[in-house]
Amino acid sequence: MKTTKIYLSTLLSMVMIVSVSSLIGGCEKDDDNGGESSLYQKLGERTGIDKAVEKSILAIASDPALTPFFEVVLVDEGGSGPGLDALKENIADFVDASSGGPATYNGLSMEAAHAPTNPRMANVDNITNEVFDAFLNAMIQGAKDAGISDESILTEYRNLLEQSRNAIV
Ligand code: HEM
Repeated sequence: MKTTKIYLSTLLSMVMIVSVSSLIGGCEKDDDNGGESSLYQKLGERTGIDKAVEKSILAIASDPALTPFFEVVLVDEGGSGPGLDALKENIADFVDASSGGPATYNGLSMEAAHAPTNPRMANVDNITNEVFDAFLNAMIQGAKDAGISDESILTEYRNLLEQSRNAIV
């Protein structure tokens, strides 16, 4: 009888410990971002971001205001440089990391990548506000083409990208 009592109270304590710790765990998760999901999650995590960036590249390729800037990357497709896949991966890492995702962005800073001091940007005009706007539109169009239709998510995404304007223009 005594053994059963000890056994039951041990079991009860274990159940209590498990439920208290899962409660604490649950709170910690919410505390990360005030209980709201991150933009990374809203974009569909890495799968969604990859899809959006892929579609954005297609939108860039169909805008004559943007294509001259990417000729250097297309030339890579001949085998002399990192190419389009590397650019897509870098942009996706950048979006992933800056929207609250787990990736680490290891590329050049936004200033360094887009300045005329980057030898790969030497043969193009400076990036103006108009060109930046066209790029931003292509990024948002890509997200839409990838199936993201919620206006508040698209606005949040645009605002995130907008933060790089001063470094790039
Ligand atoms: C929010 C806006 C932008 C973001 C987040 C962005 C992001 C990036 C990233 C992550 C890279 C890779 C850097 C590296 O290879 O280390 C890159 C490169 C590049 N970006 Fe942007 N970019 C933006 C705007 C623009 C605009 C407006 C243009 C021109 C129309 C542009 C043209 C390029 C080109 C040509 C490269 C390749 C440079 C190279 O291969 O060295 N980007 N961008």
